[in-house]
Amino acid sequence: MATRKTAKSKLRANRTKAPAKKSANRVVKSAAKKPARKTVTVAARKPAAKSNGKSVPAPSAMPWGQAGRALDGVRILDFTHVQSGPTCTQLLAFMGADVIKVERPGVGDITRGQLRDVKGADSLYFTMLNGSKRSITIDSKHPKGKEILDRLVQSCDVLVENFAPGALDRMGLTFEHIHKLNPRMIVASVKGFGPGPYEDCKVYENVAQCAGGSASTTGFRDGPPLVTGAQIGDSGTGLHLALGIVAALYQRTRTGRGQKVLCAMQDGVLNLARVKLRDQQRLAHGPLTEYSQYGEGIAFGDTVPRAGNDSGGGQPGWILKCKGYENDPDAYIYFITQAPVWAAICDVIGKAEWKTDPDYATPSARLPRLKHIFDTIEQWTMTKTKFEAMDILNKLDIPCGPILSMKELAHEPSLRATGTVVEVDHPTRGTYLTVGNPIKLSDSIADVRRSPLLGEHTDEVLRDVLKYPEREIEAIKASGAITAPEKKAEAA
Ligand code: COA
Repeated sequence: MATRKTAKSKLRANRTKAPAKKSANRVVKSAAKKPARKTVTVAARKPAAKSNGKSVPAPSAMPWGQAGRALDGVRILDFTHVQSGPTCTQLLAFMGADVIKVERPGVGDITRGQLRDVKGADSLYFTMLNGSKRSITIDSKHPKGKEILDRLVQSCDVLVENFAPGALDRMGLTFEHIHKLNPRMIVASVKGFGPGPYEDCKVYENVAQCAGGSASTTGFRDGPPLVTGAQIGDSGTGLHLALGIVAALYQRTRTGRGQKVLCAMQDGVLNLARVKLRDQQRLAHGPLTEYSQYGEGIAFGDTVPRAGNDSGGGQPGWILKCKGYENDPDAYIYFITQAPVWAAICDVIGKAEWKTDPDYATPSARLPRLKHIFDTIEQWTMTKTKFEAMDILNKLDIPCGPILSMKELAHEPSLRATGTVVEVDHPTRGTYLTVGNPIKLSDSIADVRRSPLLGEHTDEVLRDVLKYPEREIEAIKASGAITAPEKKAEAA
């Protein structure tokens, strides 16, 4: 791909070779420009404080939360769509990265129009996964579009994509091409599968849940495999990718070069289902005694079975009905019979005799009787609402959790107070709720803003980031590289 080599663009292209800027916001970039080992921050350039025999930056004099955000200065070329990739880049944006989302002119991320609830407005599917980003439209297959993309590659630290296998290469953005333009660039990808028999497959959430071991271990023994509501394939893999990117940015401060980061959805799901691979191996040494199937005297096969609501850990647990369950599908509580608080459990449910009865007094004696035990506890929980039960059980340190509906979570004041649920305003759809940054950093306050309209920042990015002169921006508009096909005709 050709790049204009004006004096200014050469300067931009050589950004990596430029001396470190004196701004804390450039920590990641500027540090990478130095030959390894030195952590470069503004503070580091001051006489360094000594700690453990190593030079470390002096602490910022700014009050907590006012010294910028963790990823300030990191710029991301966001080539993601649907859910997995956007989850990753949205998290990085919340942490301060400048995320520039590249979308197809006139179309955009397909989710803008999927599951639409407000006519003519971007869907919640899109808005809740693309907050705090900028949007630029570029036809990546148009010659001028390719040129703009090359300049973005030269101006960004990370390219994130989750296209179908091979699509990025077909756009001409091979790793070799990218690295030639910008050796510091990190190229991060989500794919359905890693190298192997399925590597060319397109994958969506539930496919990953099925291929990663989650579906086969979820649900009840006498029912079919089940997918979960939590998007562990898409959002889970996006989270994994974000960690890989941050690690690669950190390594770049030593090596000065970028690298490929790949997260396969199958791998991400398997990582989250790791306890089930644990159980698979335990099967070779006997039955899984904490599974209620054991207490019911049902033999195990050679594969980890579905365990209903059994606890995945060593402390037996189950979901129990609470007062009002007849009319409220969420009037339930998760109850764990943790061994150290067994006496308190017996007292609260009115079974004090179980404390000394050899059939109930020890965890191993209880295992074959778990169904009866939970049925008995349920007789007590059914006399309380889930919140009344929580109040009583928490005071006794008995681990339990209410089944909270999405309606309850949407209105939960503590989640609003911590910024986990955030209300943002949007020009075409009005206010909407979104999930803010679930990762809380005490000195990097999350930046949760509404999602961008399609191409909302095209001019801004061309002008301010890529430094195209106005005259050239007009020419780009006329070329059709950033406009929808029907507008191309108008421009011609
Ligand atoms: N300008 C021009 N073309 C563009 C473009 C742009 N700005 N952005 C995307 N395209 C093109 C791509 O180049 C590709 O064209 P090609 O197939 O001719 O090379 C085309 O759009 C479609 O991309 P693709 O990724 O194949 O989309 P899809 O809708 O067919 O498939 C997925 C969607 C999610 C199944 C697929 O992208 C995938 O498997 N991704 C990896 C796994 C993943 O992330 N899955 C979870 C999604 S939540």
